[in-house]
Amino acid sequence: MSRRPFIAGNWKLNLGPGAAASVAKFIAEMNSGNHDVDVTVFPTALSIPSVVAALQGSGVEVGIQDIHTKTEGAYTGCNSSTFARESGCTRALIGHSERRTLFSEADEVVNEKIRTVMTAGLLPIVCIGESKSDREAERHHAVISKQLTGALRDINADQVASIVLAYEPVWAIGTGLTATPDTAQSMHKYIRNWLYESYPRYVGDAVRIQYGGSVNISNAKSLLSCPDIDGALVGGASLNPSDFTDIIRQA
Ligand code: PGA
Repeated sequence: MSRRPFIAGNWKLNLGPGAAASVAKFIAEMNSGNHDVDVTVFPTALSIPSVVAALQGSGVEVGIQDIHTKTEGAYTGCNSSTFARESGCTRALIGHSERRTLFSEADEVVNEKIRTVMTAGLLPIVCIGESKSDREAERHHAVISKQLTGALRDINADQVASIVLAYEPVWAIGTGLTATPDTAQSMHKYIRNWLYESYPRYVGDAVRIQYGGSVNISNAKSLLSCPDIDGALVGGASLNPSDFTDIIRQA
């Protein structure tokens, strides 16, 4: 089963409107001629309009890093998925480990956010991943299974088939400690089998599973050549547009 490779850049709280537009312009130029790999960047919310403008016509999509479960109302400081859609976003990052740990986002909230963004017409990238202590205690499969069950509760098979999952072991995010291709592939295979066991066959065939956690120009190729790794969610290295486009080329 061949799935279209998908490289995403999570810029986190970096690159204000001006800097983000410059990086986006570089990516747009370098990405011209790419018809084989899906690419999305996730700027901080205030940089979305300048990045959408800079990427116009480039084929590179823009997503929002987080949204509130409600789309409008008295929720001071929150971002709405319908307004993100109106601003030109096509995707939303949901359940990133920084949201889960720094903002106490539980699986129930992740589930609610997935429904909210899909209703608004955005496609989610749903992040899952175990901590270092979970891995050391050999609880990693149980943790991933629990996160998947909670995140995807009562979401129908067709909708799940359109979701992208990002396996991001927490111990590998921003640490320089990438999972080896064997470790990553083994978890991706576990996730795919979980999908096969939980839904009709076409769902597990369709869902793209990105790897995330210290992906860079040196390790991307070996990770991306694993059969169940369909792309990468790149943090730090995506801030450098020449590294990021190099990773897209490797995919
Ligand atoms: P990193 O971040 O590539 O800097 O490890 C990945 C992520 O947090 O999505």
